[in-house]
Amino acid sequence: MKLTDEQRLLLDGGAGDTVAKYFRLLVEWGRVMGAERLVKVDSVHASGITASGRVASAVNREAAQKTLAQVLEFTSVPMRAPTATHVARICLEDDKGGGVTDEDKAFQQLIIERARRAGIQLTWTCAPYVAGILPSKGQICAWTESSAVVYINSMIGARSTRNGAESAIAAAMSGWFPEFGVLRDENRGADLIIDVEHAPGTELCEWGFLGYFAGEVSGLGTPVFTGLPSPSQEAAKQLSAAVATGGGCSMFHIAGVTPEAPDLAAVVHRPVQRIRYTRSDRDRIASKLNTLTSSQIDYVVLGCPHATLEEVRTISARLEGKKIFPGVRLEIWTAWSVKAVAQRMGLVQVIEAAGGKVLTDSCPSITRAGFGKRMVTNAVKQANYLQGMTGHEVAVGTLDQVMSAATTGVWSGN
Ligand code: F3S
Repeated sequence: MKLTDEQRLLLDGGAGDTVAKYFRLLVEWGRVMGAERLVKVDSVHASGITASGRVASAVNREAAQKTLAQVLEFTSVPMRAPTATHVARICLEDDKGGGVTDEDKAFQQLIIERARRAGIQLTWTCAPYVAGILPSKGQICAWTESSAVVYINSMIGARSTRNGAESAIAAAMSGWFPEFGVLRDENRGADLIIDVEHAPGTELCEWGFLGYFAGEVSGLGTPVFTGLPSPSQEAAKQLSAAVATGGGCSMFHIAGVTPEAPDLAAVVHRPVQRIRYTRSDRDRIASKLNTLTSSQIDYVVLGCPHATLEEVRTISARLEGKKIFPGVRLEIWTAWSVKAVAQRMGLVQVIEAAGGKVLTDSCPSITRAGFGKRMVTNAVKQANYLQGMTGHEVAVGTLDQVMSAATTGVWSGN
């Protein structure tokens, strides 16, 4: 890989040993991935800047101390690219507790202070684009949240590979990233055409079912959809999250809609397989994601990936004058900046008056602190991960079905 004089200086410790250590990892990784050069990074979404949650309590103190040491190292140097935080493993306002001790909270407070001083934007969200972090077409990003990587690659035409904590923080510290994968023009074409015959309409769960299907059939490849209208931000969020849940995609195209796909020919550069998405595909995915053994539910989770202001507004309007069913817990997860606006609008107060919670900085799959045994949601990703993380029975349905379950305790979906 060719390095400039400026990059060589970083590698040789010109900006200190910590930067050199992480930059060396990045350069080595780039070599392995076949990158020929490093390119300037415009935006970083960094994970791992968090205390370990319940791990810190007792389960594995050694791992917790290691995590803290790593975060202290991450935050010991100023960032060279705008850097926003992914979710934390602790929600400081979650009254469920989930085994989080005062010591865990003190860890998190320390990390917050260190990250602030390092110049990191404390967004604590998996959907930075709902909190105002929105790169432009063609900008180079090092983002960690898989759904957000898919969103910015596909809907905006920004460029990010899928990152882990170390590669993203190395990009933030150095300001550079190795150019490989979807950062290069020739790797942004479609590998598969999906003709959408069962239209998702306006229900967000339907965009999730379609995305999960597309992820399953695409694996690590890039699908291009035909027959889809331009999705709302909320629908695109579900599609992006589900594509990265059903498979390992970094991006998709929608012919005639997304910025790099004015038509099929613009993204299909070689003969590729063509398949259909039908009603029976939709039903198979919905049934695969429904593991409820009873229609009595006790947990409702919305806001995965984190809810937009419009989602919070819609949920709040549906709860006006209503009450959450006794024994059922409703949680809406969002970025704290979105919650702040929703509070100003009185939306959070309506949700809380009904007995619901608006929580920030994390989600049940990340904190591993769920409630009850049977959870329903409109988000394919939360259903998929929560059942694996906490053993909840789950189901995915429309917002009507989810809100009805919240106020009656009974699931009537799928
Ligand atoms: Fe967001 Fe991932 Fe949770 S997308 S809501 S942090 S499972």
